[in-house]
Amino acid sequence: MPTTIQSLKTCKEAGEKFTCLTSYDATFSHIVGSAGVEVILVGDSLGMVLQGHDSTLPVTMDHMIYHTEAVKRGNQGALIMADMPFMSYATPEQALENAALLMQAGAHMVKIEGGDWLCETIRMLSERGIPVCAHLGLTPQSVNKLGGYKVQGRESSQADEIIAHAIAQERAGADIILLECVPSSLATRLTKNISAPVIGIGAGSGTDGQVLVIHDLLGITPGRRPKFVKNFMEESGSIDGAIKAYVDAVKSGDFPADEHSFN
Ligand code: KIV
Ligand code: NA
Repeated sequence: MPTTIQSLKTCKEAGEKFTCLTSYDATFSHIVGSAGVEVILVGDSLGMVLQGHDSTLPVTMDHMIYHTEAVKRGNQGALIMADMPFMSYATPEQALENAALLMQAGAHMVKIEGGDWLCETIRMLSERGIPVCAHLGLTPQSVNKLGGYKVQGRESSQADEIIAHAIAQERAGADIILLECVPSSLATRLTKNISAPVIGIGAGSGTDGQVLVIHDLLGITPGRRPKFVKNFMEESGSIDGAIKAYVDAVKSGDFPADEHSFN
């Protein structure tokens, strides 16, 4: 059965964890979906892991369309979420035009980064049949405003703000919230406060789903490994085995452990 927004909501209501992984091409899309991953993210992280940039800012709509088309061709029933790249949703009108291109390329939903300033855009996309995931916490397209890739929402006023953004976004029509690099307590509280499924990365084990960049899971990303990443290749020895180990670990609650989380 293909994954849908509705099936993810059913998962949340039943208290069952689900998984998400990035893929950027048809082969990985096929492997990832076949291993039981529910959501495939065509992430603008491709600017870093495929293109070698030090941020996601250089990624264009043409890049995202190209990779979304490839992922669609290999898809085995996962829900395909495509990132809208930097400045492709600066206004609601731009967002509508660019989100339509990603949906026509094969995405089932789009992801945009930011707080409640996105509500008008979310409402506009959602009313026109485009499901939206709102990405909160560490938003990599704003790395120059944030002053680096840092944990967000450590102060209680900031934590309250992030939760308020998510509530407003759900009210505007957001179907999924993605939380990156926030304290586990904040992610758990947010997840309980909204009915839309919440996907976490570096957000502890209290969210409804988890996401990782596939290169990180396979341990092939050069440089320092972030705290929230686990190399599943070490214990599995094959790509397929590593992805299945990730799926099992998320479903059983073994991943993320405290050592992968922020407090
Ligand atoms: O682009 C990406 O891979 C992402 C995840 C890190 C959530 O946005
Ligand atoms: Na992204």
